[in-house]
Amino acid sequence: MSTINNQYFQYEGCNFVSTIYTKEHLEQLQHFEIKDTDVFIVTYPKSGTVWMQQIISLIYSDGDPAAVQSKPAMERVPWIEIIYVARNPKDIVVSSYFFHQHLALYESPKDFPDFLEKFLDGRVEFSCWFDHIREWYAHKDEFNFLFMTYEEMKKDLRASLQKICNFVGRQLSDEKLDSVIEHCKFNTMKMNPMANYEGIPKKSGEGTFLRKGTIGDWKNHFTVAQSEMFDRIFQERMKDVPLEFIWDNE
Ligand code: A3P
Repeated sequence: MSTINNQYFQYEGCNFVSTIYTKEHLEQLQHFEIKDTDVFIVTYPKSGTVWMQQIISLIYSDGDPAAVQSKPAMERVPWIEIIYVARNPKDIVVSSYFFHQHLALYESPKDFPDFLEKFLDGRVEFSCWFDHIREWYAHKDEFNFLFMTYEEMKKDLRASLQKICNFVGRQLSDEKLDSVIEHCKFNTMKMNPMANYEGIPKKSGEGTFLRKGTIGDWKNHFTVAQSEMFDRIFQERMKDVPLEFIWDNE
């Protein structure tokens, strides 16, 4: 373990925020009991983690938020199920920038250009987005793996839910699927204190965890020069990864 600055320390090559994690917590996780009935949601921060958690909980409780349960133990699968949620990285930087401004656990970013530079260098929480997605993509065939994107969920939530239901082997009636959709819509989740990290100290009363929930907000924050620089780095770092991203809502 090494300390990078006051904000982060590195553990097994990944940056962790010192106000949230300790080396002891991370070591304990090495002994966490994993059952072959577990579903893992893997994301880089700000890619839709809480949204997918809500979706999985609702699918397993037949769309009834009052009955949220863990996955029934008898539904065994040959390998652990992993759902990886990816999001276009320009929207991730913007979402993360505002999240850092909002939560007291984080140091406030100096400004957006500085934060963007750190993101591209991997000098941020959980290190480099490019390494994260590349490594998970490279290992996907070793697991029972479903690759989802934030953008496909935004564009067609029903079709996305059906895909997730098929993957986890759970069939829901149209009525139950409607209920899942209703409870994991942006506006419904925005009213949910749990989904909004209520109780976690904020820097000011302004803003919420569920901020905008849109595709393409980066266009409101990137300059043309920043976008072009990002595109160049993206093309270089992702040239051998055959993944397509949706960058705007049109
Ligand atoms: P924005 O900051 O762009 O609004 P994570 O859970 O990985 O931290 O991701 C947070 C991002 O997912 C935030 O993006 C948040 O608004 C968005 N999000 C959460 N729930 C959502 C939902 N039901 N529909 C659309 N976006 C959602």
